Amino acid sequence: MAEQSYQHRETEMESAAEASKELKLKKRMKLIFYASAFAIFQTVVILVFSLTVMRIKNPKFRVHSITVEHLTASSAPNPPSFNIKLNAQVAVKNTNFGHFKFQNTTISFDYGGVGVGDAFVAKGRSKARSTLKMNVTVELNSNNIVNNSSLTSDIESGFLALSCHSKLSGKVQLMKLIKKKKSAEMGCAILVNLVTRDQSCPRYQLPIEFSFAIS
Ligand SMILES: *[C@@H]1O[C@H](CO)[C@@H](O)[C@H](O)[C@H]1NC(C)=O
Ligand SMILES: *[C@@H]1O[C@H](CO)[C@@H](O)[C@H](O)[C@H]1NC(C)=O
Ligand SMILES: *[C@@H]1O[C@H](CO)[C@@H](O)[C@H](O)[C@H]1NC(C)=O
Ligand SMILES: *[C@@H]1O[C@H](CO)[C@@H](O)[C@H](O)[C@H]1NC(C)=O
Repeated sequence: MAEQSYQHRETEMESAAEASKELKLKKRMKLIFYASAFAIFQTVVILVFSLTVMRIKNPKFRVHSITVEHLTASSAPNPPSFNIKLNAQVAVKNTNFGHFKFQNTTISFDYGGVGVGDAFVAKGRSKARSTLKMNVTVELNSNNIVNNSSLTSDIESGFLALSCHSKLSGKVQLMKLIKKKKSAEMGCAILVNLVTRDQSCPRYQLPIEFSFAIS
């Protein structure tokens, strides 16, 4: 009887040891599960972070609007000429999570490949995830255009096609640590509508209508 009880106790102890072993294994499995879940979570976080915050994109440089302040154009007497004062609102859109600091630049305007004027854009800083708007004024004239027969017909038709281009160079800075050179290029096509105030007068003055297209 006593021996039986002893044996019974022994098997009880054995099964208790087994149970604790199983518990330990379960605990370890749980640990491994949480550790790998955390590792996966961290990988996803790092991946998302590097694909969004850390990814540095080129800022965008655009012409938002243009207004004509002053305009004179004449197809006769020869040579044909124009004089236009434009006010342009330009914007630097920075989608990065750090600011974009850019250098001075110019926006060059041309007619038929010949430069007719440059607008100065002063250096500045476009804050993280924002758009910096600036006003620039430029005076354009036909002084550099020599002997282009298209100019006479364009002015006579009442439409003057100009184009502009510019490159903004600077650096995007992320969290005071990472600096990366980035630039933004801009191009635009402008169609200035020259309308006569007096049809009998060959000299075109003052804009009545102005249209432009931005590409
Ligand atoms: C930028 O333009 C300013 C005038 O607005 C001038 O003083 C400065 O020297 C220019 N900087 C560079 C790097 O050309
Ligand atoms: C004259 O201007 C027109 C219109 O902008 C342009 O297409 C053409 O190439 C120019 N011709 C010359 C000789 O510069
Ligand atoms: C630019 O000019 C427009 C109208 O001429 C004005 O409403 C706007 O406030 C100006 N913006 C800046 C940044 O000077
Ligand atoms: C235009 O320029 C050419 C030379 O580039 C010259 O031979 C021609 O006479 C000029 N035409 C006019 C109308 O000035």
